[in-house]
Amino acid sequence: MDKFIIKGGKNLSGCVEISGAKNAILPIMAASLLTKGKSVLHNVPHLNDIKMMAHVLRVIGARIDFEGETMEIDATHASFCEAPYELVSKMRASIYVMGPLLARFGSAKVSFPGGCAIGTRPVDLHLMAMEALNAEITIEHGYVLAKTKKLKGGNITFPKVSVGATANALMAAVLAKGETNIYNAAIEPEIGSLIDFLNLMGANIKGKNTDHLQIAGVKELHPAEMTMIPDRIEAGTFVIAGAITKSPITIKNCVPEHIQILLEKLKETGCEFEISEDSIKVIPAENILPTDIQTQPYPLFPTDLQAQFLALMTLAEGTSRIEDTIFPDRFMHVAELNRLDADIMMNKNAATINGVKSLSGAEVMATDLRASAALVLAGLAASGQTTISRIYHIDRGYERIEEKLKKLGADIKRIKG
Ligand code: UD1
Repeated sequence: MDKFIIKGGKNLSGCVEISGAKNAILPIMAASLLTKGKSVLHNVPHLNDIKMMAHVLRVIGARIDFEGETMEIDATHASFCEAPYELVSKMRASIYVMGPLLARFGSAKVSFPGGCAIGTRPVDLHLMAMEALNAEITIEHGYVLAKTKKLKGGNITFPKVSVGATANALMAAVLAKGETNIYNAAIEPEIGSLIDFLNLMGANIKGKNTDHLQIAGVKELHPAEMTMIPDRIEAGTFVIAGAITKSPITIKNCVPEHIQILLEKLKETGCEFEISEDSIKVIPAENILPTDIQTQPYPLFPTDLQAQFLALMTLAEGTSRIEDTIFPDRFMHVAELNRLDADIMMNKNAATINGVKSLSGAEVMATDLRASAALVLAGLAASGQTTISRIYHIDRGYERIEEKLKKLGADIKRIKG
């Protein structure tokens, strides 16, 4: 397994380009299964999660060409309606194939995703949505079996906001007979981008960026071509890299509006920004001030930036509190950050962080994707050497992060395992 060795304390400078958004691309790849023919996606980064989804689609029978940053998905010969355990257990987003397979073939068999490092993560809302659209669900031998003669439009009211369940419901409803209403839908930018792609395929979805989506089912769809939106979590991680290393770096090719809440919170810590339509220049604070956050669905603070923001708060002048209401167990990074001399205490789903004057390098272990990003940020700010093992987690969601950081002047090396 590869490791990162970071010699911290360097000032960063210059620009970093943000890649396409993993969490927007994964459901769009699955949506390509909805029709025969070749869909084309641009601005697709070479991430392990994306390669894994490509693998899932190939198992189903799609043909995938991935050259440079363009991915072509030809689902003409897709026919095997199954996402097996070996794949779903490695990436739970594989469940995204359920909606499209049900809609196109009337059947889907998807391994029940197990728990993961950030908690139990149930799929009941995905199943509830499929049932509301006239699918029969049974669970056998660790697999969800979904079947229907024909999906029919229905009303789906989610008791809590779920990005994944909203995406799956959309991908099933577009080919259902009649009209579907989704209430309390997720309004994350990744859902907006899926709606754009489905509408380009010939779907009829109204209500983008609102929590009430209206879908008029159509008889068939056709392939589409679209450029993927920039990754707001990668952009946010680099903004925090500027703040934690007190470096005036510029984050390019991003959508500042997608991380408005992060920028507002960072302003409370003393940071300033120069913002253009697609770039953010960080003007870092000399002294980092403490502030509290609570993760919530978009447009409030994203759980996917909680760990990185927590790393910043370890160096604040005072005490801050960070609560995760989306994934209450998503705090595996806390023990690792404490190994770097941070002072963090946990109480249920909230961390109290007493800011320290400096972090000091140590050997730590990445436990999940965003936790790894938090350790990299802390390592950049810590004095001395930080070694981060199990960085395969970070390769799932950040494209060549060490190369991007090196270009900014960081001293970071990948040691091949
Ligand atoms: C997606 C993102 C993930 C992000 C999360 C929240 C992808 C591939 N992953 O995950 O990076 O952290 O959104 O923004 O896009 N829930 C249920 N039942 C369900 C589904 C979800 O109770 O059937 C709960 C979850 O446990 C969680 C909350 O709903 O507490 C939100 O989860 P959800 O939005 O579904 O997350 P994912 O789509 O899995």
